Amino acid sequence: MLACRNLVKHYETDRGTVEAVRGVDLDVPAGGYAAIIGRSGSGKSSLLSMIGGLSRPSAGQVRIDGTDLWAMREPEAAAFRSRRIGYVFQFASLLPNLKAIDNVALPARLAGRLGRRDAAAAAGERLADVGLTNHSDAFPAELSAGEQRRVVLARALMNEPALLLADEPTADLDEQTEREVMALLQAVSHERRATLVLVTHNLALAAEARQVVHIADGVIVP
Ligand SMILES: Nc1ncnc2c1ncn2[C@@H]1O[C@H](COP(=O)(O)OP(=O)(O)OP(=O)(O)O)[C@@H](O)[C@H]1O
Ligand SMILES: [Mg+2]
Repeated sequence: MLACRNLVKHYETDRGTVEAVRGVDLDVPAGGYAAIIGRSGSGKSSLLSMIGGLSRPSAGQVRIDGTDLWAMREPEAAAFRSRRIGYVFQFASLLPNLKAIDNVALPARLAGRLGRRDAAAAAGERLADVGLTNHSDAFPAELSAGEQRRVVLARALMNEPALLLADEPTADLDEQTEREVMALLQAVSHERRATLVLVTHNLALAAEARQVVHIADGVIVP
């Protein structure tokens, strides 16, 4: 489902070139669950950003169900990302002046996929999926950190993505809440047969994945 070939990411800085990712090959089958672990600065986020179509590789390929992600042009690439990929990143990134339900509805509205009424109905279902029906009219600031993360998850599910990407989505939560959000993330991706790629520092969480990918200094190590 996901196939990365010889992915490379260099950053040009004042201090010279940073080789963040140095030739990664990674395959994750449809419905698979891969956890990416490694020390801070090892290149995990850089790798995930390339997989998610958010940061252009210096070299190499990302294929999602056979489609070469980085060979597409905008706006096709943007449409592909919004239809196929759901993002659950560390900082909640909810729009503060939108209610939970409107934050969740936003991807479908932006994609022009659903009208206002249908988007609201679908967003209500996604909020129910994450157990937040009673908070649909709350603004992000009125929600706890764990609840905010569940809204982000509901939003990521809105366009029924085939691929869910999560970059340390729970690192700032307490242990119990982290467990709950992660269990939910695993359950919803399993139910929807979505492929899940998770970056985490939590080795206990990573151990639950079907595939554990250890990155050190920009390369996969055994
Ligand atoms: N935009 C950037 N410009 C320059 N260097 C960068 C940039 N982003 C990341 N780097 C460098 O690339 C390397 C890999 O960074 P990356 O964020 O991918 O690591 P990470 O494994 O996600 O770390 P962490 O666990 O702390 O999130 C680091 O040396 C970092 O300093
Ligand atoms: Mg990171």
